[in-house]
Amino acid sequence: MPENNPIAIHLGDYKPTPYVIEHVEYDIKLHATNTIVKSRFGVSRRPGCHGPLVLDGEGLSLLSVSINDVASSAFTYENNQLIIHQLPDLVREIQIVQSCNPEANTVLSGLYLSNGIFCTQMEAQGFRRFAFFYDRPDVMATYRVRIEAPKSLPVLLSNGNPVEAGDVADTDCHYAIWEDPHPKPSYLFALVGGDLASVHDQFCTSEGRKVQLGIYVEKGKEDRCDWAMQSLKLSMQWDEQRFGRAYDLDYFNIVAVSDFNMGAMENKGLNVFNDKYILARADTATDTDFVNIERIIAHEYFHNWTGNRITCRDWFQLCLKEGLTVFRDQEFTSDVRSRVVKRIEDVKTLRARQFPEDQGPLAHPVRPTSYIEINNFYTPTVYEKGAELCRMMLTLIGTEAFERAMDLYFVRHDGDAATVEDFIACMAEASGRDLAHFSKWYDQAGTPIVRVSSSYNSNNKTFSVVLQQSTPDTPGQFNKAPLHIPLVIGLVDDAGQDISLQLQGTGLVQGGLLELVTEKQSYRFTNIAHRPRISINRGFSAPVIVQGDSTRDDLLFLMGHDSDSFNRWEAAQTLGRSLLMDHVSALKHKTTQPSATEFANGLALTLGDPSLDDDFKALMLQLPPQAEIAASIGVDVDAEHVEAARQTVRRQLAQSLHDELKHILHRSVETGPYRADPAGTARRSLRYTALGLLSQIDESFAVSIAHQDIAQANNMTSEYSAIAAVLNTSDASSILESFYKRHQQDHLLVDKWFMLQAQRSLPDSAVWVESLTRHPDFRFTTPNRVYALLGGFSGSNFAGFHASNGEGYRVLADSIIKLNGINPQVAARMATGFRSWKQFDHGRRQHAARNMQRILDMPGLCADVFEIISRTLG
Ligand code: TRP
Ligand code: ZN
Repeated sequence: MPENNPIAIHLGDYKPTPYVIEHVEYDIKLHATNTIVKSRFGVSRRPGCHGPLVLDGEGLSLLSVSINDVASSAFTYENNQLIIHQLPDLVREIQIVQSCNPEANTVLSGLYLSNGIFCTQMEAQGFRRFAFFYDRPDVMATYRVRIEAPKSLPVLLSNGNPVEAGDVADTDCHYAIWEDPHPKPSYLFALVGGDLASVHDQFCTSEGRKVQLGIYVEKGKEDRCDWAMQSLKLSMQWDEQRFGRAYDLDYFNIVAVSDFNMGAMENKGLNVFNDKYILARADTATDTDFVNIERIIAHEYFHNWTGNRITCRDWFQLCLKEGLTVFRDQEFTSDVRSRVVKRIEDVKTLRARQFPEDQGPLAHPVRPTSYIEINNFYTPTVYEKGAELCRMMLTLIGTEAFERAMDLYFVRHDGDAATVEDFIACMAEASGRDLAHFSKWYDQAGTPIVRVSSSYNSNNKTFSVVLQQSTPDTPGQFNKAPLHIPLVIGLVDDAGQDISLQLQGTGLVQGGLLELVTEKQSYRFTNIAHRPRISINRGFSAPVIVQGDSTRDDLLFLMGHDSDSFNRWEAAQTLGRSLLMDHVSALKHKTTQPSATEFANGLALTLGDPSLDDDFKALMLQLPPQAEIAASIGVDVDAEHVEAARQTVRRQLAQSLHDELKHILHRSVETGPYRADPAGTARRSLRYTALGLLSQIDESFAVSIAHQDIAQANNMTSEYSAIAAVLNTSDASSILESFYKRHQQDHLLVDKWFMLQAQRSLPDSAVWVESLTRHPDFRFTTPNRVYALLGGFSGSNFAGFHASNGEGYRVLADSIIKLNGINPQVAARMATGFRSWKQFDHGRRQHAARNMQRILDMPGLCADVFEIISRTLG
């Protein structure tokens, strides 16, 4: 247990602050161990409110307080609160002088040093580690900021527009003054000081504003900023065209740092990024990196409207900005790349990250109702499921109404700290639809299950479909209510054509959209000449688990013919999943392994179809991940069986598809310069998926191709993917060793090396990973490194992490115990690696529980880890 019993915050307890702060001025003297921050602001009492002014502050040294220019001693500072008593009726100015120690800040929240660069991360509650303030999103103020620093830190940045800069007389210091005219909450404040290189460009908005764009990076990395800059301009243009949103300041700056807890941060006019999501050059970044950079640049940029102009009333409303902004960045990627491939990838992510959360002890609603540590709620549920809820509203009300609703939201709530209710009200008003029932999605946790049973009546040519929904209990939430579920369906005839959907009684079904609102609903389709195949939840219209009644033949047919490409992939996944489950049960009962021939034949047709893109084909070849199989089994999972089943099916597929896979290798050899465009990305994705499969049956052939690709590669994708494809061959050690030798100077490539090492399936992966935590390049203080090695291990090395001897769990627990005192946010993220422990067999459960208990018993346990582990243990 943590020393101070952590207290939970509740949504129902929300109250506005008794005082209002509208403008603040900061005077900052940067110093590695003793940064002095002088703050000045006026406060006015809200009518009917009384009592002292209570400000947040954490780990700060308080140097002085004065009120209206008179030094005050009527204050106390304890338990992270500065309480100022005896405020006069008119408080023109409160001045507080405080200091902090950036160098000692390994939490990476507040003001800290990353590789000699001063930077800030204020979301969610880091501002209080920098200065005393109302550190909550509903207090919005304009900022004027003066930064003073030695000239060895030539770049001094903050939000908004630069208004003045110069030398400080008689010192070796200089200063810069920034003003942000847009009122903002403290979590959007940012400050940067460093010896940085930069690249610059311009963007002219649809409103005629000429915006100066700057990207600031470590010196020597200037030649890795082109892609990020291009992505930024593309994002700015897209938001104007698609959402009618233009940028609203004359400057937009991005700073890349190498120590950062998350991906990036949308500070007003001054985004701060994990440099993994900025730096890219053909020979240092993979296709995946390029696409992620494009996506995350877009995401942070889009926050300027969904998050900054309209922010959140309180942190329970986090999905209001995050779910909506993820939805917007998904749409962006869909528009600039392939829509169906993007949809498949998003659903894969949802299933790999959000479903396990929703189906385990950490399940929580998209809008939680209580938390101990808000940082623990930047989750796949808030982000990805939150985005799905926006998408479902779009499906329900249609494109035009959705556009009107967004416009209404932007106009009505500009400058507000808004709530989920405000957002839904705009959707409802603009569409004329009652979304009260739909809004339950925000409050009810758990993944709904929709059971389908259908029957064809050849006498009266009707097809009946019965849909039944249920949502399992989740921690603290039982007896779930039925939800409003939009299900897009199609009925597919023998020629692969969609049959027009005539419902008995109500007529044509517009766009194939069925709205399931009660626990059980029946539909009778008329004029159906032959028994059709049902294609349900097209485009993944709802984030649910469908338990269909399609036969294997139906699925094989849909996999080849469904007009909804998403559901062609979905049919293949369903077939692959059931094949894997059959293999697991054959292993368990020691019966013969089922054949994969039929499935492989279906895949062969896909591979031979010239109308399909390479990246779609690659996705078709990829079986559901081990963790998804484990979740489908649900209880008493033997991880070794799951792993073995997947290997066997991959081998079976490689055997059956041998000729097709070889053909792919022939026709996908890289020629010409590298381009991160959709076609090149797709080609490489298919090539290395094929190589990975072939390595299952012909190691030496696969290794020789890998060597050849690595030697000839003009790009990191080929190099990295070739290694990944042969990671479990006996040549991997030497291939990895030479990768390290080639790239050990490049920290992002060293991360990739750790990631690859973590994923190897070795007899004793856990001990191997543990030994790598002692590698001279490993650092518990750098989140990217921890995510690569320990996140790579617990998240992507299924057999190694879930080893039956419990060593995987021990190594993760030991690392969490180390991280606890260094970086609680990162420690808590690593702790979520235990979230699915209850699915496994008795022996594994015991190992997991013992290791979690070990964490709970440690002295000085932080609230972040306490919350995750105590909920996980249940
Ligand atoms: N708002 C950021 C985003 O999603 C998330 C984020 C960045 C964050 N850094 C953080 C959240 C640190 C919590 C703590 O774009
Ligand atoms: Zn975000």
